[in-house]
Amino acid sequence: MRARLVEHNQMFNASPEGAPSTSIADIVSKVERENLIFANKRALDALSFPMKIIGREEQTEKIVRFLLGYRYGHVVPFISVYGRSGSGKTTIVKHVCKEFSESEHEFVNLRRTRTVFGATNLVLASLGLEPMKGSGGNKIPFEKMQDAISIRLEKNKKKLFVLVLDEFDVIFGDPRGRPSDFIYQLLELEKDLAQKGFYFCAIGISNNVLSGYDLDDRVKSRIGTSEIFFAPYHYGNVKTILEERAQQAFICKIDDVILERCAKLASQDHGDARRAIDLLRVAAETASAAHKPLSIAYVDQASRELQKDRIENVLTDSSYNFKRVLAVIARITFLSKEEWHYTSVIVQQYKKVWFDGAQPLSYRRVSEILREMEDTGLVLSQISSRGRHGYGKQYKLEMPLHVVGRKLNANWWFGLLEAEKMHKRMMKYMRKTGDLSEKQKNRIERNEAVDEKEKHWDSYVWNDDDGENDSESGEF
Ligand SMILES: Nc1ncnc2c1ncn2[C@@H]1O[C@H](COP(=O)(O)OP(=O)(O)OP(=O)(O)O)[C@@H](O)[C@H]1O
Ligand SMILES: [Mg+2]
Repeated sequence: MRARLVEHNQMFNASPEGAPSTSIADIVSKVERENLIFANKRALDALSFPMKIIGREEQTEKIVRFLLGYRYGHVVPFISVYGRSGSGKTTIVKHVCKEFSESEHEFVNLRRTRTVFGATNLVLASLGLEPMKGSGGNKIPFEKMQDAISIRLEKNKKKLFVLVLDEFDVIFGDPRGRPSDFIYQLLELEKDLAQKGFYFCAIGISNNVLSGYDLDDRVKSRIGTSEIFFAPYHYGNVKTILEERAQQAFICKIDDVILERCAKLASQDHGDARRAIDLLRVAAETASAAHKPLSIAYVDQASRELQKDRIENVLTDSSYNFKRVLAVIARITFLSKEEWHYTSVIVQQYKKVWFDGAQPLSYRRVSEILREMEDTGLVLSQISSRGRHGYGKQYKLEMPLHVVGRKLNANWWFGLLEAEKMHKRMMKYMRKTGDLSEKQKNRIERNEAVDEKEKHWDSYVWNDDDGENDSESGEF
């Protein structure tokens, strides 16, 4: 280890690499030198399970208490674990399942599907059962699950089965698949297994609170009291998680200011432990490849790179309408210079900007898209009071505005920037010449085109609305 450390220190002061080579031995030794700073790089893989769990005692205890109920004759059939990304939900639920040896469990990540049908098949597969071929009545697969679970519990002499469904929100993107029915069938599964003397508990992990979705009353009433919230981590939690990882990952101690910077950037919007770990890894990799010491500048560079990648990944998989709604948010944010926008303003602008003769999206559909967008981390929502109009939901971009604009469509974005510049120039000129009527002045105040020559500006203009129609969505 000591020899590696010396070599590493020498490397950081070494002269730049020689000419590129196609020799495999040269490449191998180059990669080896690039990785000299790492003792165990796996510790910087956000997908690897942590050696030590930091904090989250309250949530861990709550889950264990719910499960322990089986010893006293009652287990809640469904636990909803929810919270923002990187708040440790998957980690803590996995930790509990691993350590709580009194139960049998299966962990199913639903991210690999987009439908209720697909989710049912993933659960069947996890239990070693054949997938469904057609989407006929969904009672049969649940009967099969019941048999498989009973056999497994009998065989292992256990009474409790825990089915973890991670990324549970996915099923709500498939309203035609009747997600509420899917949950109802899980609740029925618990009832049927109880008749055989077994206990069953499903744990749904999601970003949004389950009771916020459109669920049947029969489902709502049965899952009501078993929700566990994972608040975003504070800066201090993120820093401790990082310290633990850094200790294992690097051969020498990483300067505290580097970890602080990663923790700070990852806690800016909401404390996201995954983002912090990714930042540290990418920054260390870049610095190491450049044969330079890890510095704050590399962390900042990593932050920009990761944001770009994230936006690109989301946009690659997203629908045409998703991109249009995102474009509307980017556009209003740019023109209004405001961060938060009511759903009604977004809908109104969507209709105004994108009306291309096709059937415009309904208010409800735009609301759904906004919710999906929040799951991807591109936007954030808040409930805000509008005085006499009650409460409304507002959204803001979570990613850098200009990166989003450029990634959506560079030509469109630069056109918008140009149009604003021209408008400002024109306004300045008109103000200077003083040759304006009262009506024209009012139009300037409202950020509208002053005369016919400038009419094209109207297609770019952000039109204010106080969000009066927000309650139409029926969300509040
Ligand atoms: N309490 C913790 N102790 C140690 N490591 C943690 C803790 N919480 C989170 N982490 C680490 O942070 C990363 C993100 O955590 P995790 O995947 O559990 O988040 P999540 O809430 O499930 O996020 P998402 O909603 O995006 O799935 C993982 O690499 C995990 O190991
Ligand atoms: Mg997770």
